[in-house]
Amino acid sequence: MFSSVPEHVAIIMDGNGRWGKARGLTRSEGHYAGVQAMERVIDACIDIDIKILTLYAFSSENWSRPKAEVNYLMYLPVKFFNQKLPGFMKRNIKILVSGDITTIPDSTRKAITKAMDKTKNNTGLIVNIAFNYGGRNDILQAVRQMAEDVQNNHLELDNINEGLFENYLYTKALPDPEILIRTGGEKRISNFLLWQVSNAELYFTDVYFPDFNKEMLMEAIGSSEARHAIAE
Ligand code: IPE
Ligand code: IPE
Ligand code: MG
Repeated sequence: MFSSVPEHVAIIMDGNGRWGKARGLTRSEGHYAGVQAMERVIDACIDIDIKILTLYAFSSENWSRPKAEVNYLMYLPVKFFNQKLPGFMKRNIKILVSGDITTIPDSTRKAITKAMDKTKNNTGLIVNIAFNYGGRNDILQAVRQMAEDVQNNHLELDNINEGLFENYLYTKALPDPEILIRTGGEKRISNFLLWQVSNAELYFTDVYFPDFNKEMLMEAIGSSEARHAIAE
C-alpha cells in the first residue's frame, strides 16, 4: 500500500461530544477541544511529511442534531480560521474544502472561502476539510454535473471512465487516501468518502478525537504497514 508514510490520510474525527460529557463539560466544549486536536494533528502531519490530510468536520447527516449544536458547529470554522489562518500561512498550509458549502450560513461560507483563497498558492500540507459532506451526495452531484456536460455536448458518453469521474467529485484533484482513521470507537464509515476509500486501509481507535495525537497517528500508520508487511 504505502512504502513509508502515506501521501493522503483521512480522519473521521468522532467522539467530541462523549469526550466533553466524560469530563462533565458540554458537547460544545468537546467540539472546541476537537478543534485544538485538529491543529495538533495538522502539525503532526507536517512533521511526518504527510502531504494531504482530509478531516471530516460536518456530515450532511449532522443537520439532524439539535439546533444549538448545529449552530455551534457552523460557527466553529469562523473561529477556527480567524485564529489559525496566520499560522497556516506561516506553515505554507493550503486549505481545501470538500462538500456543499452553498447551503451553509453566509458567515461560515465566507470564513471557509477566505481561508481557501488566502492559502491557494501555498505549496505545503493540504488540509482538506470535509464540511457539509456526504459520500452519496458527492457521487450524485458528480453524476448530475457529468449528465449536464453530456447534454451540452461537452462530454462524450464513451469518454466516461473512473479517472474522468473523479474530476467531478468534491475531492477532484486529490489522490485517494491510503488510510482512513476513525476515532471514537464506532466502526462505521458514516457516509464519508465512499468512492475515494475503495482501496484504503481502515483503522479504528476507541480514543476520542480531542485526545488524538501524533503518537496515535504514527501508531495508526505503523500498524497498517506492519499488517501489510506480514501479508507480503
Ligand atoms: C464528532 O464528534 C464531531 C462531529 C460530528 C461534528 P461527535 O459530536 O459525533 O461526538 P460523539 O460521537 O457524540 O461523542
Ligand atoms: C461522523 O460522526 C461525522 C463527523 C465526524 C463529522 P457522527 O458521530 O456524525 O457519525 P454517526 O452518527 O456516529 O454515524
Ligand atoms: Mg459521533
